[in-house]
Amino acid sequence: MVEDRMIREIKAIAKQASKKAYCPYSKFPVGAAVLTKEGKVFSGCNVENASFGLTICAERNAIFGAIAQGHKDIIAVVIFTQTEKPAAPCGACRQVISEFNPRAEIYSFCISEDFLHYNLRDLLPNSFTSDFL
Ligand code: THU
Repeated sequence: MVEDRMIREIKAIAKQASKKAYCPYSKFPVGAAVLTKEGKVFSGCNVENASFGLTICAERNAIFGAIAQGHKDIIAVVIFTQTEKPAAPCGACRQVISEFNPRAEIYSFCISEDFLHYNLRDLLPNSFTSDFL
């Protein structure tokens, strides 16, 4: 389990990231921040495209940033949406998180006090892994 104080700090980073979202089509800004085993935090936002299918989610941008900086041990993923209700991560992002930690802690926050806390193993049971290759 990650300390509450730490999660609150990472929530603030995810919230800041959501302000950078490029989402002119959905108008649904998302920010994400991942915590690694070394205590580093990497953030990302959703980036949309006129060719809609090329859109990338905030979670994947944050994870790919962490990997690109040499940090693969992801402990937790924190999501922030500028909504009244927290939003769970999409299926594609669940699969990408699972590549690096099938037991990652997932937190979803929003502008209200409402939040969600999951373990990825409950959000993506029996996932596709390298064992099948
Ligand atoms: N989005 C995310 O960034 N993360 C998710 O887990 C779900 C959806 C983005 C993609 C798109 O830019 C917008 O939210 C609406 O789907």
